[in-house]
Amino acid sequence: MTTITPSRRRSPWLFFVGAVVMLAGLLFGYDQGVIGGALHGIEDTFHPSTLVVEIITSWVTLGALVGALVAGSMTERLGRRWSIIWAAILFTIGALVEALAPNTGVMIVGRLVVGFGVGVASMAAPLYAAEMAPARLRGRFVSMYQLAITFGILIADIVDQVLSSGSQWRLMLGLSVLPSILLVLAMFPLPDSATWYLKAGRRDDAAGALRKVRPGEDVQADLDGIAASLGESQATWREVFAARWRAPLVVGIGLAVFQQLTGVNAVIYYSDKIFAAAGFSTPAQQTAATTWSIGVVNVVATFIAIAFVDRLGRRPLLFAGLIGMGLALLVMAACFRYLEQPTTATAPPSHSPSDAGVILLVAMVVFIASFAFSLGPVVWTVINEIYPAAVRGRGVAIATAANWGAAWLVTRFFLTLVDAIGQSATFVLFAVVCAITYVFVWRRLPETRGRTLEQIQQMWVDRDPAQAR
Ligand code: BGC
Repeated sequence: MTTITPSRRRSPWLFFVGAVVMLAGLLFGYDQGVIGGALHGIEDTFHPSTLVVEIITSWVTLGALVGALVAGSMTERLGRRWSIIWAAILFTIGALVEALAPNTGVMIVGRLVVGFGVGVASMAAPLYAAEMAPARLRGRFVSMYQLAITFGILIADIVDQVLSSGSQWRLMLGLSVLPSILLVLAMFPLPDSATWYLKAGRRDDAAGALRKVRPGEDVQADLDGIAASLGESQATWREVFAARWRAPLVVGIGLAVFQQLTGVNAVIYYSDKIFAAAGFSTPAQQTAATTWSIGVVNVVATFIAIAFVDRLGRRPLLFAGLIGMGLALLVMAACFRYLEQPTTATAPPSHSPSDAGVILLVAMVVFIASFAFSLGPVVWTVINEIYPAAVRGRGVAIATAANWGAAWLVTRFFLTLVDAIGQSATFVLFAVVCAITYVFVWRRLPETRGRTLEQIQQMWVDRDPAQAR
């Protein structure tokens, strides 16, 4: 195994890599957040049926699922760089179609194209960042992706409030072309990742790419390390599922799915409804509670991960976050149980939140903050670093698609679940998933902090020598 001497010099090119990953995250977050506010205007304009409203809301996620899977092959064939450029172009076209849609049919096509673009970018951009960043900064770089997602959700929230009247929904949806055009511009001057160039047999370009982002390092040694990790052949889709890659595959898919099954998007999407149940009776109170307790806290707490993910490591952040999330969910469940009692339900309507409502708000803040410094950024970091080079693109694609699939399931069935078993039991269920995720991380996830991607690959071989075959 090659030992790489880390250089402390920062390359200005890394700034562009950071910009690319942040713009991709911004698209993801903005697009996810904006539809909630745009929906009222869309309903006023087109009077769609409930089914069509549901399709407009949730098919972006399905488009993203397909986009992430297609990106698995796309990033191997076209490269990471061109995949990101295409994702941004598709996103721009889709957003314009949405914004100018004359009817719901065209709107749905726009939503699917946007979703597809977001899906490709959500797979290709963090992968690109993970391969470009020096080992000692990798966690921080990929966490910046998460930071941008949270920022995008917050901006969408604010835009929704500012443009809440009439047909402004067209502007709300159309505004997202700004970051996507910036993304194309930021990507153009950058090279592809050295890993991809080596896969494509372009060693000189690979050396050039490394020299740009890792000045002062022994580029030849780095290249030999990456080349050795690639092996002699490029894995096919079938090989990704081969027994020898099973351990990282299970870790990636498991974390991606658990990230969603702990309920974060249920809390984000339905926060207004949750706050209403807690006694925040006016829409203005609910919106303020959502923006401040969810949106801003989500952004601010992500900085904790950026500061510590490469210092403390992935596992400690996950453990601390999962404990915070689990406990907060149990407190939320207890509040709902109290609020759901017939005596509380028949109490005369009050215009300020009850004590249980305030405790619920605090618990939601603790939940979101705990997610934001752990499962949010760390899952994206881990997914993009644990796969051996030969299967990395496809492995990341599968894990990212699994994340979108699970996101769709939770947002689609959350309200159905609440109807069936009640809010309190639903939140207990999310807490149980936190406990399962804790055990999963503890037993299966090796610490990857500070290791090069090639060293991480070697860790799997050391754990299970059968992988070397
Ligand atoms: C998740 C999204 C979620 C966001 C919240 C991301 O890591 O993948 O589904 O909405 O975090 O900040």
